[in-house]
Amino acid sequence: MTANSDDLDRRDALKLIAGGLGLAALGGTAACAPATSTASSSALAQPRPSPGPAPERFLAAPPMDTVRIGFVGVGGQGTAHVHNLLRVEGCVIKAVDDIVPEKVTKTQDLVEQAGFPRPTGYSRGPTDFVRMCEQEELDLVFNATPWEWHVPICLAAMRNGKHTATEVPAAYTVDDCWALVEHAERYGKHCVMMENCNYGRMEMMVFNMVRQGVFGEILHAEGGYLHDLRSVKFSPEGEGLWRRAHAMKRNGNLYPTHGLGPVANCMDVNRGDRFATLVSMSSPSRGLELYAREHFADGSPQRQERYVLGDVNWSLIMTANGRTIAWATIPTCRARTAECTWSRAPAVCFRATRTASTSKGGASRTTGSQRRHTSRSSITRCGSKWKRRAGAPGMAAWTTSRTIGSSSACAKGCPPT
Ligand SMILES: NC(=O)c1ccc[n+]([C@@H]2O[C@H](COP(=O)([O-])OP(=O)(O)OC[C@H]3O[C@@H](n4cnc5c(N)ncnc54)[C@H](O)[C@@H]3O)[C@@H](O)[C@H]2O)c1
Repeated sequence: MTANSDDLDRRDALKLIAGGLGLAALGGTAACAPATSTASSSALAQPRPSPGPAPERFLAAPPMDTVRIGFVGVGGQGTAHVHNLLRVEGCVIKAVDDIVPEKVTKTQDLVEQAGFPRPTGYSRGPTDFVRMCEQEELDLVFNATPWEWHVPICLAAMRNGKHTATEVPAAYTVDDCWALVEHAERYGKHCVMMENCNYGRMEMMVFNMVRQGVFGEILHAEGGYLHDLRSVKFSPEGEGLWRRAHAMKRNGNLYPTHGLGPVANCMDVNRGDRFATLVSMSSPSRGLELYAREHFADGSPQRQERYVLGDVNWSLIMTANGRTIAWATIPTCRARTAECTWSRAPAVCFRATRTASTSKGGASRTTGSQRRHTSRSSITRCGSKWKRRAGAPGMAAWTTSRTIGSSSACAKGCPPT
């Protein structure tokens, strides 16, 4: 097999999966071209590197004492990242880019107040990150921009010799996924999707238990992202300015990685197994139009909008080793779930549910049981001696329960998850 035919095999395999079995689960289909695809297309209009063969070894970059960072997109999530980076030893934010000049100034002030030199500001329009990547001496370009900008920013960074990190989802077309791979291989730069849910306390605990063989062989896993985002999507600021546009043009699981990432870790995806086939289904779209009817006056622009994004999306994956994954994205209720069935006790089911709190726009109409959970975590192993309950800072409410007979309520009377 030649180097090129090897590369074709990689592409053909992915095309088969995407075309035949529904890329919708990854949030993009040919039939549902994103409203905002121009951002991506223009970045890709530049010549793409010839892919060549897959590298023989994984990329390893030499360690750095100081990481010089250029940050793009300092809205809600970007500002949170900036605050964190200012506390990480060895990180220096050297440049900041946002289309809103006031946000750049605010971030420059934050960096200065933390005792660092004032970063250079970039705010000459939506592609000013290219100028930043060309002019600045940076080790890493980190972006927390609207989805349509992730790929163009990552490509500009790698083309200009910088490692790059992006918020989720990294990309939503197969071509864009390949562009990221090709650039990372060609320029020898890391391109990382910052899937924070992989590193949640609960997820790391379960991952550790899986690695230690507590569950035996994982045969099937379920995950999900169940987060009521209606008020966020209709907010006059932040994600309300751009996220609803995706719901008007694209159907599928537009935000798959929070639920799928931790499950992929537990199932050794790309470490001995890989996703092989996928099918994805969405319910009809109702919730956003209903929300607009209930919250906006007759004749308002929001009342004229029509959405194609189904309220509920379920996707099924089979891995190359024949194991199965089911995961849901439901933007009208509030929990992230992961559930596994394992071989050692086939009738026993593990479920972890994480509710997500929403700080923007008063989305937090919680049910009684959600309210009960939001101020603490509980880890309960039903049917045995140990039970632990502890305070949990931040957004999380955790409930893990071992349940019998695949039911969500414990046979010994522990509370349902
Ligand atoms: N991992 C998580 O838990 C998590 C949580 C929230 C958001 N996110 C992700 O973070 C990203 C940003 O979300 P957010 O909630 O911060 O949205 P936001 O709208 O609050 O912030 C986006 C920022 O990007 C800026 N921007 C837009 N286009 C730009 C461009 N071309 N160049 C430079 N700046 C540009 C906007 O002015 C804004 O300041 C999204 O990808 C979202 O999915 C992830």
